[in-house]
Amino acid sequence: MTVPKTAIGPFTQLFPMTDVPLKGSLTDEQLPIIPQGGILFSGDTIVKIGRFEDIKKDATVIIPIEGNQVCFPGIIDAHTHICFAGSRANDFAMRNAGKTYLEIAKQGGGIWDTVTQTRKASIDQLIAGIITRSQDHLKQGTTTMEVKSGYGLSVQEELKMLRSIQRANKTVPQDLIATCLAAHIKPNDADSDATAYLTEISETLFPILLKEKLTHRIDAFVEESAFSAKQIKPYLQKAKRMGFDLTLHADQFTPVGTPIAVALGALSADHLEASTAKEIELLANSDTVAVALPGASLGLGCPFAPARKLLDSGACLAIASDHNPGSAPMGNLMNQASILATFEKLTNAEVWAGLTIRAAKALRLSDRGSLAAGQLADFICFDTHTYQEITYQQGQLLPAAVWKRGKKVV
Ligand code: NIG
Ligand code: FE
Repeated sequence: MTVPKTAIGPFTQLFPMTDVPLKGSLTDEQLPIIPQGGILFSGDTIVKIGRFEDIKKDATVIIPIEGNQVCFPGIIDAHTHICFAGSRANDFAMRNAGKTYLEIAKQGGGIWDTVTQTRKASIDQLIAGIITRSQDHLKQGTTTMEVKSGYGLSVQEELKMLRSIQRANKTVPQDLIATCLAAHIKPNDADSDATAYLTEISETLFPILLKEKLTHRIDAFVEESAFSAKQIKPYLQKAKRMGFDLTLHADQFTPVGTPIAVALGALSADHLEASTAKEIELLANSDTVAVALPGASLGLGCPFAPARKLLDSGACLAIASDHNPGSAPMGNLMNQASILATFEKLTNAEVWAGLTIRAAKALRLSDRGSLAAGQLADFICFDTHTYQEITYQQGQLLPAAVWKRGKKVV
């Protein structure tokens, strides 16, 4: 049986996001637009992109678009923690009432609270939570999401989280890219020190991750209050020797993560709210993607990552939601990216590159993030005549349609 070739269009503006430089600042004029554009795809893969009038000649099925629509590649959210149980609304209230991080932790809040709730949850309850949250992200146009563990903090509990993510990935339309964040904080109930905990994780958990194909990515929270650069270095080196990709929670409160991220060739350094000129320069001169997480700034009331300076220095900037129950409970990436753009003065081109092709680089995914022959048919369509409306409406304008691997899922 031959697979039909489907042509969809014409889109008033189609943004293939191809030929967009992967590093540095971008003007909107640098964003290639195909007016009256169309996509020809077969199965889950794009066959051709071009003017709808031209590509429809090769189609066996035609899906006409009525009225004005703008089309982009599906959004890639390169940093989330959507596998968790419980709520931290009480932390949020305490923080806004002026309580410090330590006071909140003393009253049973903080990351450890989510660890306690997540350990109590069954694998089915965790999967149900991932499915519900993925569904919200899908409606907002996210077709690929990274999902971290990190609320288990023991070999068995981290496995439970990563197996939940693996099983949820078979159910949701999106591709979920799992990451092991066993090095989130030192578990409160560990009878050993941080180094012994990390050794146990790397010796016992890492081989199982590879055997069960649970993830090929290792993350760590580098911060004096979590793991110092000195403590985490041997752990990350071991992960790298075993073939894992690295990504780090870096420079959230103090600029201690980026130097080690860059030195070890991490795919990305995420957060960066506390990065100074030195860390910006390091990132600009490296292949490590700088990932801004405006949702954490909005959740905690902290400064934004220096996105403008990172771009002007020549870094590759992606923007992700960090959706988690503690620092970033909102999870609406377009809303967060649009707000980051107003405070950091980012062009639409910089925002969209950060949500698509540059986010794909952060996850080392070469088959998505742009619309071209051979790429996955992941694309989102907005009912509007100009792309400028999307960030202007700050996340209120939802996609009219979301296509994932050639199937309409919204
Ligand atoms: O990315 N910074 C560390 N980890 C998370 C927060 C996790 C939590 O508070 O539950 C973050 O912001
Ligand atoms: Fe995070």
